[in-house]
Amino acid sequence: MLLGLMAASLPLASSIIPAPVEYRATGQAPFRFTAETKVVDAQGTNASKRLKEMLARSAGLALVGPGKTSQVVFRPKSDAKKLRPDWYWLKVSPGEILIEYSTEAGAFYAVQTLRQLLPDEVESNKPVKGIDWRVPSVEIADGPRFAWRGMMLDESRHFFGVEFVKRQLDRMALLKQNVFHWHLTDDGGWRIEIKKYPNLTKTGAWRLDTGGVWPSGGWNYENVQFVGEKHPKRYGGYYTQAQIKEIVRYAADRHITVVPEIEMPGHALAATVSYPELLCENVPAADKPGKTVSNVLCAGNDLSVKFMEEVLDEVLALFPSTFVHVGADEVLKTFWKNCPKCQARIKDHGLKNEEELQSWFVRHFDAYLAKKGRRLVGWDEILEGGLAPGATVMSWRGTSGGIAAAKAGRDVVMSPTSHCYFDYSYQAISTEHVYSWEPVPTQLSPEEGARVMGGQYNVWTEWIPDARKCERMQYPRALAMAEVLWSPAGHRDPTSFRERANQFYRRLDALGAAYTMPIPEVPFSAVFFEGSVSVRPLEEAVPFNLRYTTDGSQPTAKSPVCEGDVSVDRNTTLSFAYVSAGGQIGDVARIDCRPRPAPPTGLATGLSVSRYLISGTPRSMPDFHQMEEHDRFVVPAVDAETRPRAEKFGVVWDGYFEAIEPGLYTFWLTSDDGSRLWLEDALVVDNDGPHAAVEKAGAVLLLPGKYRLRVEWFDQGGANTLKLEMAAPGDDRGPVPANLLFHRQP
Ligand code: ACM
Ligand code: ZN
Repeated sequence: MLLGLMAASLPLASSIIPAPVEYRATGQAPFRFTAETKVVDAQGTNASKRLKEMLARSAGLALVGPGKTSQVVFRPKSDAKKLRPDWYWLKVSPGEILIEYSTEAGAFYAVQTLRQLLPDEVESNKPVKGIDWRVPSVEIADGPRFAWRGMMLDESRHFFGVEFVKRQLDRMALLKQNVFHWHLTDDGGWRIEIKKYPNLTKTGAWRLDTGGVWPSGGWNYENVQFVGEKHPKRYGGYYTQAQIKEIVRYAADRHITVVPEIEMPGHALAATVSYPELLCENVPAADKPGKTVSNVLCAGNDLSVKFMEEVLDEVLALFPSTFVHVGADEVLKTFWKNCPKCQARIKDHGLKNEEELQSWFVRHFDAYLAKKGRRLVGWDEILEGGLAPGATVMSWRGTSGGIAAAKAGRDVVMSPTSHCYFDYSYQAISTEHVYSWEPVPTQLSPEEGARVMGGQYNVWTEWIPDARKCERMQYPRALAMAEVLWSPAGHRDPTSFRERANQFYRRLDALGAAYTMPIPEVPFSAVFFEGSVSVRPLEEAVPFNLRYTTDGSQPTAKSPVCEGDVSVDRNTTLSFAYVSAGGQIGDVARIDCRPRPAPPTGLATGLSVSRYLISGTPRSMPDFHQMEEHDRFVVPAVDAETRPRAEKFGVVWDGYFEAIEPGLYTFWLTSDDGSRLWLEDALVVDNDGPHAAVEKAGAVLLLPGKYRLRVEWFDQGGANTLKLEMAAPGDDRGPVPANLLFHRQP
């Protein structure tokens, strides 16, 4: 390639993400953009236009200077046609930046690398004065590992609008991502104007406030209720065809292909409420709250086929992308089972079952798209009932769908829930976990592996109501994904990545992008003391200030920086949070500080337990103080055996826990659904929420003595798991000994 450059980890002076294939700092003086600088580009590439636009905007430099001592030269490699597409060779020296490329996209990626080599102020929207616009002298040879480096945005469940989408596209470009998979239709709303079917956006783009506060009500995604134009309180929106064209053009300027997703035959509630004639026979009405299930097009009705063909005709006119996504995931086939038209279609075409009916439907659109020179891509359910001949598979339910498709000689995009679902929390999918992802499964031979076109992360927005949260779910994980999909597999270096990501936060601040910061690590969530106590969070290598308050309030950018022990001599709560240089504030870690309670009297062994029967499906711990007890008695321990034999219930254990030795006590609470453990009024373990069996731990610093203990558990049906364990100072983990539990005698 280039001069046998080092392929080793990037030095810290460079924070380039994704890491280039080959990189070398030459040790020469830097290049400087000044009024003297001139861009020389005989080919008139889009890349040089973008470079000029960037420096005009942020530095007020037009790049049309005399150029005698400072020029930026763009030129195709002489043997460009023989080279891999989208590569660039960037040489920065004191008087010249030379950008050679194989294809124009390569030149554009060179500009994105330059952008990252320039000061963060290059992201500014107005000219910044007093900046030295220098670029370190480096030699880089670089190109992508995968052709599909994607991001999926679900705008059906929540709608973000043109300006937000443009911002996302610009950040994708910065990270050299090139596929914007736009999830435009689903049960939560139809977001693209279709002139032939105006109800799709007149009705299907708007939904009612179902009452309450988000997420259990408000502009919720669950309990979707669609309305006509008249209703005053409604949520929604859609893109006009003119806006779509504008976004497609904006993306193309950044070498990003917009792949539209038009869901069929399932996830189509917004379509079926707009045109109920598309539904199967024998389904419940779709336009009532809570009827989110009647969302499948009747595959036996020719009207559905005609509808989708005509929708696609308008979609194809707007999106030049070769690939068109038809969804096809999670189709509820029970409607087809009960529908005479669907059953007739199965019979007429000699299909075996509803899986084959789904396959028939997808095959039809595979052929339809092929006839128009396009290619169908669908979620991995399109394998069931037989894969359509031209179809490309997007593997999301793990990797098995992708493996099967690649082995069958099909193109594949990997996007498994294990690493790529950025609607999942950072606790479930950390940035490090994303960085560890290998998109090509080891089960594939090299030839089969070559079928993996790449991967993408998905931002499903059922629980993402606003733009800031949408960004926080992406960054910093998107940085890791960008490197996984661009840089050679052999370059993966978590330490180098972490250091570069730590620098990259400043650029995200400059871009105005929200991101997730770590929650400060505290050694315990509560401490009981006599006189006073000193505490401090654990030290972490992060590029943020740790700020704190001593009155339980939320830390702000003005709160004091925590630089050592914090001393406390009263009943209060310490709150710690990271604050970035750009003023972003992360989630808070708390330590409840409590004077040791007075010794209780009148105790007997065992815990008092109260049981409750609950109705509805609470998303968090009910307030048992407001509820009527079902019964109450005394038990020796906290365990699942105490539960009432009912489908939905709550159990509360009350009493005292005795600490014999002073020191750190750790408690583990495993439950399905939610549970919580309190000592006095300190929440030691918070395992709340509706969930399958999950273990949570909490630690508390105790002096010898007896502490009021409360364990709460609720179950809204399904498995009944509850387990409490502890480790006393210097002891192993195990059940809480019965001789340490007491209750107050009535
Ligand atoms: C999907 O997450 N249903 C593709
Ligand atoms: Zn039907």
